[in-house]
Amino acid sequence: MRRPLVAGNWKMHGDLKRAVNLARAVCAGAPDAVDVVLFPPYVHLQSVVDAVDATSVEVGAQDVHSATEGAFTGAVSASMVKDVGASHVIVGHSERRAIFGDTDDGVARKFALALDAAIAPILCVGETLTQRESGNAESVVLRQLDAVLERVGAEGLEAGMIAYEPVWAIGTGRTATPQQAQEMHAIIRDAVARRDEAVSQRIRVLYGGSVKADNARALFQEPDIDGALVGGASLNAEEFLEICKTAAD
Ligand code: PGA
Repeated sequence: MRRPLVAGNWKMHGDLKRAVNLARAVCAGAPDAVDVVLFPPYVHLQSVVDAVDATSVEVGAQDVHSATEGAFTGAVSASMVKDVGASHVIVGHSERRAIFGDTDDGVARKFALALDAAIAPILCVGETLTQRESGNAESVVLRQLDAVLERVGAEGLEAGMIAYEPVWAIGTGRTATPQQAQEMHAIIRDAVARRDEAVSQRIRVLYGGSVKADNARALFQEPDIDGALVGGASLNAEEFLEICKTAAD
């Protein structure tokens, strides 16, 4: 049995006070049966790490740079993220790919550097609406996954996890149906199984894209959906905790 994980990606929202209060509220209500990880903006990482101290709630960064160190003004490395007490990092989020030009190869390097720094990467994969409508959803997702598998192998992949996030469902209020999500999650798990059957059974595949308290249950009932990467709804402690509790059931 895979232990469910619910991640809250706060993106570029809030201020320091709100971040700390939100983290405290999540800690106060987080169920034991679920892994809960919060992803504040970089500048709030340390404070949120302090706020969740001595609880089971963990903290991660929304991205890292694809090099270990150097003259990269404005960038933050995986080891820096580890150093302030974070345990996870999101790599390849569709907003990073679309707005900041992250490539499959760059994302694979970020994934590998996170492993080197001993933090767990969450690899985001997902197709745009055009790609889905032209019948290319599967090939896009598998290409994004393969870039990482090529670099770190199935053993490396297992130290992190995957989040399937159809781009057309992110922040749009239009979620994939449980069937659409399950179909892609099974495709992802099959692709991992072709490399390593045991890893494919153990690795967690989260769903992301307009997950809310009222659609989470149907998604979590699907056999290959092991949790959620939540954006908008993670900014509200009550709603986020509802999703966590649903995952625990
Ligand atoms: P959303 O974002 O829940 O607001 O759709 C999900 C994500 O971007 O990870």
